[in-house]
Amino acid sequence: MKSVFFGAVSATALIASAVHAEPQAEVLHWWTSGGEAKSVAVLQEEFASKGGTWTDMPVAGGGGDAAMTALRARVLSGNAPTAVQLKGPAIQEWYEEGVLADISSVAEAQNWADVLPASIAGHMKCEGSWCAAPVNVHRVDWIWANADVLEANGIEMPTTWDEFNAAAEKLEAAGVIPLAHGGQAWQDATVFEAVALGILGPDGFRKAFVDLDMDTLKSDEMKAVFDQMRTMRGYVDDNFSGRDWNLATAMVMNGEAAFQIMGDWAKGEFMAAGKVPGEDFLCASVPGDGFLYNVDSFAMFDVDGDDKKAGQELLAELIVGPNFQKVFNLNKGSIPARTDVSLEEFDSCAHLSAKDMSESSDNDSLLPSYAHGMALRGAQSGAITDVVTAHFNSDMSSEEAVNMLADAVANSM
Ligand code: BGC
Repeated sequence: MKSVFFGAVSATALIASAVHAEPQAEVLHWWTSGGEAKSVAVLQEEFASKGGTWTDMPVAGGGGDAAMTALRARVLSGNAPTAVQLKGPAIQEWYEEGVLADISSVAEAQNWADVLPASIAGHMKCEGSWCAAPVNVHRVDWIWANADVLEANGIEMPTTWDEFNAAAEKLEAAGVIPLAHGGQAWQDATVFEAVALGILGPDGFRKAFVDLDMDTLKSDEMKAVFDQMRTMRGYVDDNFSGRDWNLATAMVMNGEAAFQIMGDWAKGEFMAAGKVPGEDFLCASVPGDGFLYNVDSFAMFDVDGDDKKAGQELLAELIVGPNFQKVFNLNKGSIPARTDVSLEEFDSCAHLSAKDMSESSDNDSLLPSYAHGMALRGAQSGAITDVVTAHFNSDMSSEEAVNMLADAVANSM
């Protein structure tokens, strides 16, 4: 009798909690630099203002390699976080493991299909259902520069790699570090893909890093990409090893270095430090055509508990909501993923990004970043990055590098 009574009470309590579940979310992300932390705070605040309780799980490490290692450990121990910063084909890889939650009900209620470009929506879907919510569009192929340093040395933003090299030689002679760089594999890969886009062109880039075409991977043009990487190795300072990307950005900010080749999360750092685009720092796409996109997104993991499920729904709703898309991206350096958010309050670099993205989309030169996990699955992109880093940190010839690249890719498939 007693147990029946208690059974009835707890059933009522359960129903009540399902209806009034307070949204909870443990959120795994790697946004720990100044600009990144300011940006993720926007989501935390919106979530809290709607009654949600946010448990932060930041895993430091640019590019997210450490965060992905932490994620694997959590999922393997059967204790996945509620929401995870995840992108590109990794979303589908986790979906295939059967561990992602379906967020189609939110996506349909908010008409994501109508407000997101098809190229972005494609990354957010798993066998027709929505499995991730996009935050932004970061562009990867940028050069950032200290405006005063360039002016003092009579240098314009380079529009060809030869101009870049000439500027670097001049800066070096003047005692300025030409290129601020952090020797971490993902940063080497970031510079490499920007150089590759410039030298191979959009079609060559697609053949190499989307289609994994062996002839292109071994081509003379690819050798030229490694030649330019070798030249650029000479433009970084002696202490580059292991340096975090935001410290490299700080070197450009304080005039110790002239240029950085990095995605526009670097702009988030400049802005967080109160620097003004066009005055304190300059942005230009790297020499050559095309646009390398990197879309941050969140996937929800299959977890138990109405409070967590409510948290996932609320997060997905906020992330694609127009206010978050504006405010977050003003801080983050990226542009909104939604096409219907006004860019009026955004700066000139963001306007250039939006214009180039739309033109590239029209002329088929809008390409997924391989270095930031948008183009390839982990095994293939990891194989390429290993070669890029091995080449950058040794005296390997370009000939050896392309052969190693083709072998590594072939072995990863
Ligand atoms: C992410 C950015 C992040 C950057 C540096 C990229 O892969 O897409 O959001 O700011 O890594 O951590």
